Amino acid sequence: MVLFSLLYVAFSAAIAAAASLQRVTNFGNNPTGINMHIYVPDRVAADPAIIVALHPCGGNGPQWFSGTRLPSYADSNGFILIYPETPNMSNCWDVHSPASLTHGSGGDAAGIISMVTYTLQTYDGDAARVYVMGFSSGGMMTNVMAGSYPEVFEAGAAYSGTAHACFAGAPSATPFSPNQTCAQGLSHTPEEWGNLVRNSYPGYTGRRPRMQIWHGMADTLVRPQCASEALKQWSNVLGESFTRNATGVPSGQWTQSLYGDGTRLQGFFGQGVGHEAQINEDTLLQFFGILS
Ligand SMILES: *[C@@H]1O[C@H](CO)[C@@H](O)[C@H](O)[C@H]1NC(C)=O
Ligand SMILES: *[C@@H]1O[C@H](CO)[C@@H](O)[C@H](O)[C@H]1NC(C)=O
Ligand SMILES: *[C@@H]1O[C@H](CO)[C@@H](O)[C@H](O)[C@H]1NC(C)=O
Repeated sequence: MVLFSLLYVAFSAAIAAAASLQRVTNFGNNPTGINMHIYVPDRVAADPAIIVALHPCGGNGPQWFSGTRLPSYADSNGFILIYPETPNMSNCWDVHSPASLTHGSGGDAAGIISMVTYTLQTYDGDAARVYVMGFSSGGMMTNVMAGSYPEVFEAGAAYSGTAHACFAGAPSATPFSPNQTCAQGLSHTPEEWGNLVRNSYPGYTGRRPRMQIWHGMADTLVRPQCASEALKQWSNVLGESFTRNATGVPSGQWTQSLYGDGTRLQGFFGQGVGHEAQINEDTLLQFFGILS
């Protein structure tokens, strides 16, 4: 009985000590009033890497926290997860405003950058290992963040999203918006897409984020052409040209499109995969350099 009680106490203590998603207020400049959640694992690494994880339309911080297995990888690898949350536009990210599409100008992008700065300072994070990932509207915003803030992100992974500035000129970026030109596969030349990125931060000559672009071939909400357009864009920006396709990578119905040697730009197209493409945490974290 005594042993049982001791075990019970130890077990309860372990539960009580487990990290959980926390809301953070007052994280800095936040022109559009978005919200911040953070997941700091119990055994956080020294100089931890940071991943910004962006929810889809209609989502929120807690929803996306349970939407992928990234938190359990944070537990085993010691990185920190930031879950931004937008309450605007049916909880879709501001991927269309000139403010988000211009370095240092505002929009949801500026609030997200404040969350990164806050986390780097509060947890002594590694500024050279800050990453961004997201699905659907969050995938669109991943490309926006990589385009507007190239100096902040080492790499990004966009699932079922659209190219940086694809929604520029549209009044909003929701599935209910009358203007679906972008999501239906708006096409530009690689140079035009590249210029949209370069014009978001005129004069910037530093390194650019490495990118992974994922899309289901059977996606009708955000067409797979959107991924081809994003790959044209990053191919131009990074100066990496298409090398080859590898079928069955990482598995089953997926085909990996390699650009250059694949270390800076990779596409993934899922045969028969719809809008809700499953997040492949292993392939994402390997690309980020967090898993070997
Ligand atoms: C988001 O909502 C807040 C509060 O209503 C508003 O001040 C802000 O301008 C909105 N941002 C966008 C991008 O719509
Ligand atoms: C619709 O959105 C696209 C960008 O996605 C933009 O180029 C175009 O001007 C918009 N059209 C209207 C009528 O707002
Ligand atoms: C590579 O694979 C993608 C997705 O299946 C396909 O759209 C593209 O045409 C392929 N490219 C080549 C050169 O085979």
